[in-house]
Amino acid sequence: MSAAASTAPVLQVEALRAYYKISSFGLDREVRAVDDVTFHVNANEIYGLAGESSCGKTTLIRTIAAAIKPPLRVVGGSVVFNFAGRPVDMQKADDETVAAVRWKHLSYIMQGSMSVLNPVRRVERAFVDFAFRHIGKRKPEFLDIVRAHLQRLDLNPDILAAYPHQLSGGMRQRVAIALATVCRPEFIIADEPTTALDVIVQNSVLAMIRDVQKEIGSSLIFVTHDLAVHANLCHRLGIMYAGRLVEEGPTAEIFKAPKHPYTTHLVASLPRIGNTAPKKGLEGTPPSLAAPPPGCRFHPRCPLAMDICRTQNPPMVEVLPGRRVACFAVTPPGRAA
Ligand SMILES: Nc1ncnc2c1ncn2[C@@H]1O[C@H](COP(=O)(O)OP(=O)(O)OP(=O)(O)O)[C@@H](O)[C@H]1O
Ligand code: SF4
Ligand SMILES: [Mg+2]
Repeated sequence: MSAAASTAPVLQVEALRAYYKISSFGLDREVRAVDDVTFHVNANEIYGLAGESSCGKTTLIRTIAAAIKPPLRVVGGSVVFNFAGRPVDMQKADDETVAAVRWKHLSYIMQGSMSVLNPVRRVERAFVDFAFRHIGKRKPEFLDIVRAHLQRLDLNPDILAAYPHQLSGGMRQRVAIALATVCRPEFIIADEPTTALDVIVQNSVLAMIRDVQKEIGSSLIFVTHDLAVHANLCHRLGIMYAGRLVEEGPTAEIFKAPKHPYTTHLVASLPRIGNTAPKKGLEGTPPSLAAPPPGCRFHPRCPLAMDICRTQNPPMVEVLPGRRVACFAVTPPGRAA
């Protein structure tokens, strides 16, 4: 899949830091879940975020969507969207601006997003709560728009009368996607929207996401730890490890020639037809983000670790046009831009 044509980025994230600040038994602790992350997303682009469990994917996109609740706090950096030429700085925006942007310009399909559907309310109610004020029509016209949207997504409008428990998991996830896209937002963030689904339902939900993104022409950040899903969907991919972005580039190039040792491991461990050789696991476990190792956070597990890796944090460096990697083995110190 080739990268989408771009003009100005629709999202620019700069040196973002978001920590959980926890106080217990008189001790203050911080979990550095997002630590100095910089990247951008272009118009009409699907940007994938990958990395193993607890590496900070959800924290990163929650921060981007300004869906921040204590103990999470933004401690540095910026998140700026560009909606139709109007910049919106999500960290500085007041609650009213964030509320006006949410759903209309930016929608967020949360991890376990079925929870956006209130179990004791019919599905129609969720559409009214989230989208009515943004679409700005009278109720009957609004419901016509919702029905037409559902039909476009191959969903029977009768589901508006259903309660969430009457729908299958796959159907609830489709409804969550319909809900997130009914206002035709310029930007959609989807956090593990297919992880709980079986493979067949997963494929049809992915096809639905791809179709609706194409139809609306939105940008999308798609989060999953499943690289095979990224391979099928995303134009570009960002690989996270322990709260940091360690590699980024066009998806096909990352799969063809991963550069960071962690990405190399992830790509090598993907199952391939006809290859029955046993896969070698990565030794060790991901670090605690409450006490991450100094230097490169991957160094305790890295087969290429050098002395410098134990003391200095490798910067993200553009090693090829559109390819960035944070690794001293790829860009020795002194060669960094
Ligand atoms: N409310 C919280 N309080 C303290 N720490 C938290 C909280 N929520 C998440 N964390 C920690 O922040 C780190 C990043 O978690 P996050 O949920 O962002 O990871 P993730 O990559 O989305 O994981 P997964 O793939 O399992 O969804 C983890 O160490 C996690 O334990
Ligand atoms: S910077 Fe060093 S420890 Fe980190 S990934 Fe590169 S070689 Fe390995
Ligand atoms: Mg998550």
